[in-house]
This record gives sequence, C-alpha cells and structure tokens, in this order.
Amino acid sequence: MKFFVDTANLNEIREAASLGILDGVTTNPSLIAKEGKVDFKEHILKICEILSWEGASVSAEVVATDYEGMIKEGRELARIHPNVYVKLPMTKAGLQGTHTLSKEGIRINQTLIFNSTQALMSAKAGSTFVSPFIGRLDDIGHEGMGLVGEIREIFDNYGFNTQILAASIRHPLHVIESARLGADIATMPFKVIEQLLKHPLTDIGLANFLKDWEKVK
Ligand code: E4P
Repeated sequence: MKFFVDTANLNEIREAASLGILDGVTTNPSLIAKEGKVDFKEHILKICEILSWEGASVSAEVVATDYEGMIKEGRELARIHPNVYVKLPMTKAGLQGTHTLSKEGIRINQTLIFNSTQALMSAKAGSTFVSPFIGRLDDIGHEGMGLVGEIREIFDNYGFNTQILAASIRHPLHVIESARLGADIATMPFKVIEQLLKHPLTDIGLANFLKDWEKVK
C-alpha cells in the first residue's frame, strides 16, 4: 500500500519523506491556501524537488471548471515536473479532461469522488487514480469505507488498472480499513502519519528500559 501525505507544507513533507515510508503528496486549493500567498507552480516544483525519485507522485489540482480551462491548466501543471499528477474534479468537464489528458500521457487523479458510479466512469475515461473522500462521507452520516470496498470490487470485476486513492482520511482506523479493503493508496494528514507509528506501550517500554539501564551505570 502506498502512503501519500495530504499537505502542501514543505516541512511536513520533508519530515514525512525522512521516515522512508512516503510515496507521494496530495494537494488541493485549500491546502495550498493554508501555506499563504505562495506562487502555486513554484510551490509544486518545491514539493517535487523533495519527492524527486522516480515513481513518486505529487498531485496538483486545476482550479478551472470548464473543459478548455482544465486542459490548459492540466498541461501547464504536468510540465512542471515528471512526478506531477493532475487533479481534476469529478464533473462532466473533469471527465472530458481526463479523457483528453490521459491520452496525452498525463496522469490524472480524479478528485471529489463520492460514489462508485463516479469512480467507474473516471476509470473508463482513463484516470490513474480515483480519490474517494472517506471522511467527508462520514461527516454527513454515510459510511465512507463502504465506498472504498465497493470501488475495489468493481475495479477487480473488470480488471481496471486505475488505483484507488483513499482520501479525506481523518484517523488511523481509516488507514487500517483502507488497507484491509484493498485501497492502493492512502493519503493522510501528517498528524495521522505520526499517529500511525505511535503506541503507548512502546513509550512505556522504552522509558522502563532506560530507567533500568540507569541501574547498570
Ligand atoms: C486529497 O486528495 C483530498 O483533497 C483531501 O484528502 C481532502 O481531505 P479533507 O476532506 O480533509 O479536506
């Protein structure tokens, strides 16, 4: 399972990369805005310079909502670095954009997926990733994880290569369930990455080892 960090913060990205578990970064306009008045393309390039190894993935989202605008922005974003994946929203224009740009070899992360028909259509149009938003479904009383399992079943039925990127992850249980259900990727806030590696018994065990070691000295 691939781990992506869901942030545009360079310090968090560097720290996540230093752990040796990082395969990619996802950004969106809200995450970019949290970094202040940055130059969007320069900022994406800085992220790509941290994740510069072959096979790493940095998702950058278009803000145009019409087909022509999405195509133009998508091509510009893809030119920034070979590791850029273009994020297009799951709208009619976004689907048309996926169809066009994927044929040009641009990898598409179809974002804002909330049901399995959207995921199926996106895969048929040629997306590389579909991003079901688990947490936002949970927020409105729908079970987000169920959607991940449903998409997995459908993609496996027909042998789609499109990868399922579990997004809008809020806590470790979302990661565990995504892994159990066969999501290819989980993108999570840096805070969740830190939560995943922690266990109170590890901290207690280490404190006891060090306390006992004092007796040896
Ligand atoms: C990532 O690709 C998504 O944009 C992100 O996971 C959305 O997360 P949120 O629902 O916490 O904003």
